[in-house]
Amino acid sequence: MKKLNSLLLFVATLLIVGCSSEKVQLDQKVYNQGINITPRPMELVVNEGKFELNEKTVFVTSTEELQKVASFFSNRMAEATGFQIKTEITAPSANFINIQINDQLTVNDEGYTIEVSPEAVEIEARTAQGAFYAMQSILQLLPAEIESKTVVNAAEWSIPAVSIKDEPRFKYRGQMLDVCRHYNDINFVKKQIDQLSMFKINTFHWHLTEDQGWRIEIKQYPKLTEMGAVRVEGEGDKYGPFFFTQEEVKEVVAYAKERFIEVIPEIELPGHGVAALTAYPEYSCTGGPFEVRNIWGISNDIYCAGEEATFEFLTNIIEEVIPLFESEYFHIGGDEAPKRRWEKCEKCQARIKAEGIKGDDKYSAEEKLQSYFVQRMEKVLTKHGKKMIGWDEILQGGLAPSATVMSWRGEAGGITAGNMGHDVIMTPSPWVYLDAFQGDPNLAPVGIGSYTELNKTYNYDPMPAELAKDKQHHILGIQANIWTEYMYTPELVEYFTYPRVVAVSEVGWTSLNNKDYSDFERRLDNIRVRLDMHDVNYYIPVPEQKGIPSCNFVAFVDETTLEFDTTEPVTIVYTTDGSEPNANSTIYDSPLTFTESSTLKLRSILASGKMGEVRTITIEQQQYLPATEKEADFEGIKAEHFKGVMHKIDQLEGLTPDTVEYIASPQKASFRVKGYRELTEDDYYNSILTGTITVDADDIYYFKSTADQLWIDGKLILTNEGEVKKNSRADRSVALAKGTHSFKMIRLSGINGGWPPVWEPLYIMLRASGESKYTYMPDEFYN
Ligand code: ACM
Ligand code: ZN
Repeated sequence: MKKLNSLLLFVATLLIVGCSSEKVQLDQKVYNQGINITPRPMELVVNEGKFELNEKTVFVTSTEELQKVASFFSNRMAEATGFQIKTEITAPSANFINIQINDQLTVNDEGYTIEVSPEAVEIEARTAQGAFYAMQSILQLLPAEIESKTVVNAAEWSIPAVSIKDEPRFKYRGQMLDVCRHYNDINFVKKQIDQLSMFKINTFHWHLTEDQGWRIEIKQYPKLTEMGAVRVEGEGDKYGPFFFTQEEVKEVVAYAKERFIEVIPEIELPGHGVAALTAYPEYSCTGGPFEVRNIWGISNDIYCAGEEATFEFLTNIIEEVIPLFESEYFHIGGDEAPKRRWEKCEKCQARIKAEGIKGDDKYSAEEKLQSYFVQRMEKVLTKHGKKMIGWDEILQGGLAPSATVMSWRGEAGGITAGNMGHDVIMTPSPWVYLDAFQGDPNLAPVGIGSYTELNKTYNYDPMPAELAKDKQHHILGIQANIWTEYMYTPELVEYFTYPRVVAVSEVGWTSLNNKDYSDFERRLDNIRVRLDMHDVNYYIPVPEQKGIPSCNFVAFVDETTLEFDTTEPVTIVYTTDGSEPNANSTIYDSPLTFTESSTLKLRSILASGKMGEVRTITIEQQQYLPATEKEADFEGIKAEHFKGVMHKIDQLEGLTPDTVEYIASPQKASFRVKGYRELTEDDYYNSILTGTITVDADDIYYFKSTADQLWIDGKLILTNEGEVKKNSRADRSVALAKGTHSFKMIRLSGINGGWPPVWEPLYIMLRASGESKYTYMPDEFYN
């Protein structure tokens, strides 16, 4: 009996293995249809037939450099296919991928040609980099599953027969990553570099120093990382120490080089240096002491331009950093350096005098002092054969002779610099600032504030029309910037980055006449599957309310109709029975009307079948809350203020206010800190406001507020407690009868996620049901 059992088990196992070995028809997947090369190539013709990759396919190359490229892709393809593709010197009769250098090829140095026939794949390029990009295109001609990290049991791995001639429009195609506001480790950086190389981005700009953290080991100044790489968050937790050792930096540079990506370091000066000044306050104007900044924004404390030792300090740092990198460029920052300290500093003023620096109509003496500062650092870089890049503020007070300008405050700086004959990298906000919202902010993780949908990034043209024709060659290209203030996790960095950075790659590579947003949208299905294979998180459009700010709490009296839309064409499914929507749920195709309280759950489904997050909307039937009589002795909104740092509402219990005032509207409450400056102990105030509001019709009203809690007629309407209170995080609606209603709002002072609530005024914003925008309510609303 026992033997028979084992035999049965053996047969059963065979059957199971047999079933699971059923071959997958990858080319029938909807996202694998068509040509999916991204960025879109210059010329592409589809021919008859296909080339089938199998275990007998070989690479044919002649030079050592190309053998490295072949070996790189052989290893990559082995993961998904299981094929060990060898490299040979001479071509067999068929079934090979031939990669050759051809100096005569009429494409630029990063360009290539591909000829795919059923017999062979022929690749030519002028450089190994061009050949590398050709192979990235070959991978994109294969099914998306070629990116899989485990073997896929594919029926076939085929490449359509095509003829391609391709080259980039711009030579600089970059992405900047801020590892200072939030640190992401070497594995994350390498993973990021992998994706960039897939889309032919050739530069990684590594923003390594900031007010909020110094993230690169400097052996001459160990306190930079001992003290500068760690901060105490507003919530009280320690963040760090987090930094890259010099060995790790070299590892990243080598990893990127293998993928034809140049890594440019950025060491910020003269501003954004509070982390360094915390460790070495002697290089500031005031002498400190400082703390590594735990709030976002700009610090007034910058390096002292009068103190000679500052230059020695920064020179030593730069000279220690230079040998770690192989880049042509070195970035010295230069942005957002307030001159308030320099104006008051005796040493800085003495420097201005000694150097004969004079302010004029255009620039103050202190702005010209920044130019002096930057030009001194430029000399250090030039001595070591490096070209200097700075943010566009380096134009103020006179541009350093050899500087390349990164235009970030829109395009104006880039146009000015280009017309002056300087090289320019276009990286303007908001088009390529990937920290902007990409969908309705009401449904998105907290962000810095601006709004840049995918198509806005895609449709950006780095060549400004205002630039003189003979200066156009100074526009080197484009860069996406990833500032990580609000990117608290690696997943959030990826969420903001993808897929918009892919659009940036196409802006940088593809000529204007070949760009096509609807084709890009189609290819995104395939791109997203590739990103899945690399375990990359990305934005998936969330069903948004059409034409109005989305809200997850919809009140109604008789009935309500909700209409939805998405930022990209995806399928929306939904349920109203409380269950999680799945692929079999009802497809949304027209507005939904509700006449009773319901829970609506919606989500998007991508072509791959992958589903987005579930959006839950509470739809509540209400009676209009009746209006109340206004008190005869109404003196204004009563504002009670309590000093101290608080993170929880119950901390207010039983306390007597330190200050009581009567005000006309919440935004007039005292203790707001203007100018996004550093906070002192005396700046932390918690406030309870009580008063009335008056609405002029029976209606459904949507509220937004910077309060932790907002109560209307004794009913809790919205809560932001524990959230990063930058803008309201939770708007909500309520049915109110025409007339006066009581309100109470509570706001706590404690910093969450780097955002001090006291930086923003207390406010209520309102939107009546027929309105498409929120309005800040004026004094009359409260009186
Ligand atoms: C910048 O965004 N401050 C360059
Ligand atoms: Zn000074």
